[in-house]
Amino acid sequence: MMKPSVSMPLLLLPYLLFLIAFHPCASDSSYDGLLQCLSNRTQPSDQISRIVYQQTNSSFTSILNAYVRNLRFNTTSTPKPLLIVTPLLESHVSAAVVCAKTLGLHIKIRSGGHDYEGLSYVSDDSFIILDMFNLRSIDVNVQDESAWVQAGATLGELYYRIWEKSKVHGYPAGICPLVGVGGHISGGGYGNMLRKYGLSVDNMLDARIVDAKGRILDRSSMGEDLFWAIRGGGGGSFGVILAYKVKLVPVPQTVTVFRVEKFLEDNATDLVYKWQLIAPSTDVNLFMRLLIQPVSSRTQKGEKTIRASVVTLFLGGADRLLSILSKDFPELGLKKENCMEMSWIESVLWWADFDNGTAPSALLSRVPDSVNFLERKSDYVQKPISKANLEWLWKKMIAAGKTGLVFNPYGGRMNKIAPSDSPFPHRAGNLYKIQHSISWTEEGPDAEKNYLSQIRRVYSYMTPFVSNNPRGSFLNYRDLDIGITSDSKNSYAEGEVYGVKYFKGNFDRLVKIKTAVDPTNFFRNEQSIPVKA
Ligand SMILES: Cc1cc2nc3c(=O)[nH]c(=O)nc-3n(C[C@H](O)[C@H](O)[C@H](O)COP(=O)(O)OP(=O)(O)OC[C@H]3O[C@@H](n4cnc5c(N)ncnc54)[C@H](O)[C@@H]3O)c2cc1C
Ligand SMILES: *[C@@H]1O[C@H](CO)[C@@H](O)[C@H](O)[C@H]1NC(C)=O
Ligand SMILES: *[C@@H]1O[C@H](CO)[C@@H](O)[C@H](O)[C@H]1NC(C)=O
Ligand SMILES: *[C@@H]1O[C@H](CO)[C@@H](O)[C@H](O)[C@H]1NC(C)=O
Ligand SMILES: *[C@@H]1O[C@H](CO)[C@@H](O)[C@H](O)[C@H]1NC(C)=O
Ligand SMILES: *[C@@H]1O[C@H](CO)[C@@H](O)[C@H](O)[C@H]1NC(C)=O
Repeated sequence: MMKPSVSMPLLLLPYLLFLIAFHPCASDSSYDGLLQCLSNRTQPSDQISRIVYQQTNSSFTSILNAYVRNLRFNTTSTPKPLLIVTPLLESHVSAAVVCAKTLGLHIKIRSGGHDYEGLSYVSDDSFIILDMFNLRSIDVNVQDESAWVQAGATLGELYYRIWEKSKVHGYPAGICPLVGVGGHISGGGYGNMLRKYGLSVDNMLDARIVDAKGRILDRSSMGEDLFWAIRGGGGGSFGVILAYKVKLVPVPQTVTVFRVEKFLEDNATDLVYKWQLIAPSTDVNLFMRLLIQPVSSRTQKGEKTIRASVVTLFLGGADRLLSILSKDFPELGLKKENCMEMSWIESVLWWADFDNGTAPSALLSRVPDSVNFLERKSDYVQKPISKANLEWLWKKMIAAGKTGLVFNPYGGRMNKIAPSDSPFPHRAGNLYKIQHSISWTEEGPDAEKNYLSQIRRVYSYMTPFVSNNPRGSFLNYRDLDIGITSDSKNSYAEGEVYGVKYFKGNFDRLVKIKTAVDPTNFFRNEQSIPVKA
């Protein structure tokens, strides 16, 4: 350490320069300044320089790329952070928040990096990344049916650690094992047990957060308003989530899965129409996701058709499932041989597309099989779409190209929870949520332009069939097309545009809480909750 008396005046200079004007090339001074400040606020034994990567460090690019999950934000023109800070302790997060605030550095927080618009690691103004991947411990307590899980853990790690301790417990969260807990839960995460147990945030007991003053707070010290806000109001608006204490839910010894596919020539339209009536109202133990995709026809060469695939989790045995569906949903044509009984953890692997027989420890891997270029959008459907309109939609989807739709049924527990119980407002009255989805592998701006225009077209065709005024959206399916606020301004008027689509009537309360806990808008991104004076 330098002697403070000698270094102080020199050290102040870069801070002042930062406060006056951010400069994207000011890497050295921000590094020195941040390191000084962090050293001053942590123990010498922490060796704080180990956790701060500057662009010149040989590991900088691999650390940055390790949690990029959308290739659109892995190009040479993608804005890069000045620095990446990788805390090893909660106190490091606290020090990083205080120091970044003092130095006028804009923080982007990253846990699993699955944000569809890359908001956790990209920004138009100069920024640093607070990367949470080292903070990933999971402590499962079967006795009181709970688990503390740090923000940098993945969903796969959480499922595995629960399974290690109990074969009859699970947690209702997302389907892709690599998704990060920090972003997923704070965005209101859902998965294939949502009809039985609701969202992740409906099964939440406590949390730890670093606020804009650098304080480490839990549920009792943060208070019920802030605790409410971080149950779906979005990571990155209120503080840095350190950990959530989640409530485990019971799962049976035996669950059943199946996948059934039909094409237009097999009367897929009848199946889709009927699905809208059955999937949101059937037994709460039954979650039938419906995927709709334009594909090449098997029977007519050169022609396109629509494939409708029903992918299911049933919390129970195959006989019971067959008896429910043969009565309620004959259009599916479900047969005994379609149904596979297995344990809950095997169903997690099956849903994540692992090969039959893969050991559960595969859920601990942090390396994706492949990373594509992606764009996603969302919609909520409140009235069944008629067969005639579905047929019109199929033609439009085929003409548009390769945009697919994923229908996720609601109902069950979702209908029983008040829209104001958490920031997530899309409860009773919604039959299902649609994810609009397009992925591609071709590089370059022309491909991107083409695929983005395809998905935007399909989104516009969908307008008459989905919620309106506002047209609802799901925060975890981040979509900058529905509204964006420039990082530097983050004005209320801009924020309200996307805010009411994601949060409807809960937006006002989120703004009030934001204004109270972070009045200077230190925690912000292109779609964060704005401050209102
Ligand atoms: C392949 C794939 C599958 C998906 N499947 C599902 C699914 O089944 N169900 C579902 O609900 N969603 C799903 N999603 C969406 C996913 O839940 C969101 O993208 C979620 O925000 C990802 O969390 P993350 O930590 O991985 O992302 P990140 O990109 O790290 O973070 C997302 C947002 O949260 C903020 N954030 C991250 N960590 C913290 C923290 N510790 N404190 C405060 N703010 C933080 C970031 O700044 C960013 O704004 C999926 C996404 C992908 C790419
Ligand atoms: C170090 O900490 C002290 C006391 O908290 C503070 O007065 C001083 O400004 C800090 N120095 C730096 C370089 O952050
Ligand atoms: C940066 O690079 C050096 C040398 O390549 C290495 O020793 C160091 O551990 C790296 N990491 C950090 C955080 O500086
Ligand atoms: C991101 O780009 C770099 C540089 O082109 C490349 O080495 C890396 O493999 C890419 N990452 C992924 C996930 O494809
Ligand atoms: C499709 O529906 C028609 C009319 O209901 C029926 O005659 C035909 O057998 C069905 N085709 C298939 C493949 O199920
Ligand atoms: C997995 O493989 C075993 C043994 O080959 C088989 O009995 C079982 O039905 C398969 N399960 C699934 C889900 O395919």
